[in-house]
Amino acid sequence: MKKVIEILQEELSAAFEKAGYDKKYAKVGVSNRPDLCQYQCNGALAAAKEYHKAPIQMANEVVEFLKDSESFKEIAAQAPGFINMSVSDRFLADYINKMAASETLGLDKAENPETIVIDYGGANVAKPLHVGHLRSAVIGESIKRTARYLGHKVIGDVHLGDWGLQIGLIITELKHRKPELVYFDESFEGEYPTEPPFTMSDLEEIYPYASGYSKEHPEYKEEAQTATAELQSGRKGYLALWQHIINVSVADLKKIYTKLNVEFDLWKKESDAQPYIPQMVQDMKDGGYAHIDQGALVVDVKEETDTKEIPPCMILKSNGATLYNTTDLATIVERRRLFDPDEIIYVVDKRQSLYFEQVFRCARKTKIIGEDVKLEFVGFGTMNGKDGKPFKTRDGGVLRLEKLLEDVNEQVLDKMKDRDMDKDMIDDAAAKISLAAIKYGDLSNQASKDYIFDVDRFTSFEGNTGPYILYTIVRTKSLLAKVKAQNITVDEKSAIEPADSKSETDVMLALTKWSETVNAAFEEHAPHKICQFVYELSDTFNKFYHENKIVTNENEKQRESYIKLSALVGKVLETAIDLLGLEAPERM
Ligand code: ARG
Repeated sequence: MKKVIEILQEELSAAFEKAGYDKKYAKVGVSNRPDLCQYQCNGALAAAKEYHKAPIQMANEVVEFLKDSESFKEIAAQAPGFINMSVSDRFLADYINKMAASETLGLDKAENPETIVIDYGGANVAKPLHVGHLRSAVIGESIKRTARYLGHKVIGDVHLGDWGLQIGLIITELKHRKPELVYFDESFEGEYPTEPPFTMSDLEEIYPYASGYSKEHPEYKEEAQTATAELQSGRKGYLALWQHIINVSVADLKKIYTKLNVEFDLWKKESDAQPYIPQMVQDMKDGGYAHIDQGALVVDVKEETDTKEIPPCMILKSNGATLYNTTDLATIVERRRLFDPDEIIYVVDKRQSLYFEQVFRCARKTKIIGEDVKLEFVGFGTMNGKDGKPFKTRDGGVLRLEKLLEDVNEQVLDKMKDRDMDKDMIDDAAAKISLAAIKYGDLSNQASKDYIFDVDRFTSFEGNTGPYILYTIVRTKSLLAKVKAQNITVDEKSAIEPADSKSETDVMLALTKWSETVNAAFEEHAPHKICQFVYELSDTFNKFYHENKIVTNENEKQRESYIKLSALVGKVLETAIDLLGLEAPERM
């Protein structure tokens, strides 16, 4: 289904041509002066150069051909050469009715669906999931859902960090604490126990301890590095411990991601790319792309047009060890082999942007990936506390994500304690509301910007917040429940009538932005555009709701039309929040 702007543009194109001007000037946009008009075309100003005429004269000529069009309520040329337009109520209502009748609410699915891998989440095994990982999970999930909704084939991969020093640190600390464990006995030949020698809470204590200790004790750090290298070269006991670490961590991560309403199609790990490394390195050498620099194997990635220094991409350290880059490059090889994607999107902290620039350049230069495959880095900013510094616990520690969820849930439960609802219902609603508070608070900001995590603001039921959006959806639901309870008949076939108030027109105009919003959010990897849309729609709907009688309206035709419009608003909002990874409760 065409977007309103496209329909208007077609009409204007025809008028420009009739007036003797090129239709390329008939560009229509949403007005930036909504007090004057809804849409606007500035083409006459641009055309003046080509036709050596006063723009206002040209605008007047074009408008002359459109004055009788049924699409417009108002169309006028405005000095120095704008064409201002507002669509007719009939036009708008027709559009809204088509939207209501369409399964995708008027949105066209992608004509050429692409295969897209999204690398997000990025948790590390053995380390508790902390707030720093929240943004990747929340933003990536929304990008994934949006792409999928448009019909693309999307593969979401958590890409767990399981191959680095953190494992060596845990092995080392365990060895100090429990040297008697069979995993450390190199002569052991039997089967290792199936039960892990630690729980997740043990790991959560061991890792920070070992990490802190290693910073002050170089010999301990060296031990951990050796353990990491031994693991990576296949020491059996360590591999068995590592497998336990992964199992325990993954079970815990799945639990938390489920709570966050974040789902991965793949639970691949950095280590899964290891088998691809030897051949990749060989190809880099054979192709003459890599050279030895101070013992290390590197690929130069700087380009003449660089304005800042882009260091070479290191593939192997002088001791032959692989690095984070090596794994990422090998993962590209793996993804290409397994999925042949058209695009790979990485949702990672923007502080890794230089790193990804190096990796992408290296992948292209060494022909690991062709020019036809898009590599996109979606870098996100930091989640700060009210003091403007990275979000921390009160005592300055790193806040566990699970704890954050609990705290916000407490706060929401507190707000709802006087509700006349069953406990189960309150619990369910509170879980959905707190998730909306957290995720919407994050997603409503442009991803690349830092933002302030303000629990009081985010959990508010008013203003541009997740709970406010859910509240609006619940309002549409209870309105429909009343219709049902009171046996008010709504004729299936009857249509939504042209608007009879400004507030109703505003709701309809907000609704028409649905398909352009989803497309823009996808193309620009910008979930905040969906947030802007749901907020505008909620806000206009609530105004309409307050100014008009809906269920109690005595005018039957109007009542039916208003109910249908409200139902459509609810449906569009629910579809939109699903793209944000949110759900609305039945009541709140
Ligand atoms: N595990 C990494 C971290 O915590 C993020 C992984 C991002 N993805 C990637 N392909 N490098 O920083």
